[in-house]
Amino acid sequence: MAPIVSIHQLYKHVGEEVTLQGWVYNRTGKGKLQFLQVRDGTGICQAVIFKGNVSPEEFAEAKALGQESSLRVTGIVKAEERAPGVPGGYELDVRSVEVVQAAEEYPISPKEHGVEFLMANRHLWLRSSRQWAALRVRGVVISAIREWLDDNGYLNVDTPILTPAAAEGTTTLFEIDYHGEPAYLAQTGQLYNEANIFAFGKVYCFGPTFRAEKSKTRRHLQEFWMVEPEIAFCDLDELMEIEEQFVSHIVQRCLRECRAELAVLERDTTLLENVTPSFPRIHYDEAVEMINAAAAQGLLVPGYDEPVPAIEWGEDFGSPHETYLAAQFEKPVFVHHYPTRVKAFYMEPEPDRPEVCRSVDLLAPEGYGEITGGSERMSDPAKLLAAIDQHDLPREAYDWYLDLRRYGSVVHSGFGLGVERTVAWICGLDHLREATAFPRTLTTMRP
Ligand code: 4AD
Ligand code: MG
Repeated sequence: MAPIVSIHQLYKHVGEEVTLQGWVYNRTGKGKLQFLQVRDGTGICQAVIFKGNVSPEEFAEAKALGQESSLRVTGIVKAEERAPGVPGGYELDVRSVEVVQAAEEYPISPKEHGVEFLMANRHLWLRSSRQWAALRVRGVVISAIREWLDDNGYLNVDTPILTPAAAEGTTTLFEIDYHGEPAYLAQTGQLYNEANIFAFGKVYCFGPTFRAEKSKTRRHLQEFWMVEPEIAFCDLDELMEIEEQFVSHIVQRCLRECRAELAVLERDTTLLENVTPSFPRIHYDEAVEMINAAAAQGLLVPGYDEPVPAIEWGEDFGSPHETYLAAQFEKPVFVHHYPTRVKAFYMEPEPDRPEVCRSVDLLAPEGYGEITGGSERMSDPAKLLAAIDQHDLPREAYDWYLDLRRYGSVVHSGFGLGVERTVAWICGLDHLREATAFPRTLTTMRP
C-alpha cells in the first residue's frame, strides 16, 4: 500500500508512489486523459489519469466525478515545473482511483457568485482557494502572535467573556441576562489584564471580543479576535517599541511561511517586506496638520476617489483620514496623543496638556486602517475616579479596578491587536468577513 501523503509534502516524494486523499476541486479532460484538481486541505495537486493506466471502470468513474466528490488517488509523484496547483510544480501520475463519495451537484462553481450567496453558503465557500488561503494565513498569524509573546516573557492569562461593566464605551455593548442581572459580552479583556500584571508582570489575553457596531463597514465585525498584551513598568514610548517588534514578527513570519497562500490571493507583498522596526511616529497634532494641508490642496484619498476631508482639531479620524495618513509612509505608522475626549476613560492624560492622552494607534498601509489601539493607563486613583465619573460610568462596577491604583500602582501600558484587521491587511482582503471562518456582521449571523 502506498503511503498517504499530504499535498504540501509532495516535494519529498518525487518518483515514489503515494496516495492523496481529498476532494475534487475541478475536473477537465479530453479523450484518454482526465485531469483532476485534487485538494486535501494543505494544497491542490493535479492528478493526471491516463486511460491505459487504470481499470476501465475507474476511468469511467473518474470521468463522471462532480466537483467536491471525495476520493483517494494513488499514483507516482512527478516534478513538473508547469504543473498547476498550490503550491504548483508537482503532479500525480495516477494508477488507481477510489471514490469515497460522488458528491451531489455542488452549488458553488468556479463562475462568479454574489457575496450574499457566498455568505449564505459560507460552510461550503471555505473550501474555495481564496478563502482557504486567507484562513491559512490567519492560522499562521495566530501562531506568530503566541510565539512572539511566549518567547518574550509574556504569560497568557485569559480574561472573562461575561462581564459586569463596559470598558470601551457603552454604545457597543451586547447585553445578556445573567440570571436576572444584566451582563455584557466582553469588548476587551484589558481591565482584567491590568489586574493580572500586578501578579505576573507581563501578560496577554487572547480571545473573542464583541462589539455591537451599529454601522455597516468593511472594517468592523460584531465578534472579532483580539490579542491584548499588558506590561507593568512600561510607558508610551516603550509600548511603541514593543508593538513594532511584535507586528514585524507577525508579518515576516507570514511572508516566510505563506508564500503559496499569498500567491493564491495575488497579494503584492512589496510593502509588507518593509514591515521591520522601527515604524514612523506622528503626534495627533501633526496628523491633523497633514490632513488639513491635503484637504486644502484638494488631494484625493488613495483608492477612494474622493478628496481628503478636512478635520477639526479634537475630532477622531474617519477611515479616509486614516487611509490618507497611512499612505504618506512606507511602513505602518503610529499616531500618538489623541484628544482625551475621543478615547477611553482609562487613558493617561498628558500632565502638561491634559486635552491629549498617552494613546497610540497603529495605522496599516494600503487603507487597512487601525490595527492596534493602546495606551499608557491612568495610574493615579483620584484621577481615575474623576474620569469614571466624567464618563458617567457606575463607580461600584469599577471599585476593584480602582484597587489596582491603591496597592502598588505603577506606570503601565498595553495594546490590543485585531486579528481580522491584521489578516485582512496581510492578505490584501477588501472586507473583514473573509478574515474569519464564520463572520458575524451587522447583517449575517448564519450559518
Ligand atoms: O482600539 P480598541 O477598541 O482597543 C481596545 O479594546 C483596548 N482595550 C485594547 C488594549 O489596549 N488592550 O480595539 C483594538 C483593536 C483595533 O485596533 C482593531 O484592530 C480591533 O481591535 N477592532 C476591531 N476589529 C474588528 N471589528 C471591530 N468591530 C473592531 N473594533 C476594534
Ligand atoms: Mg481603537
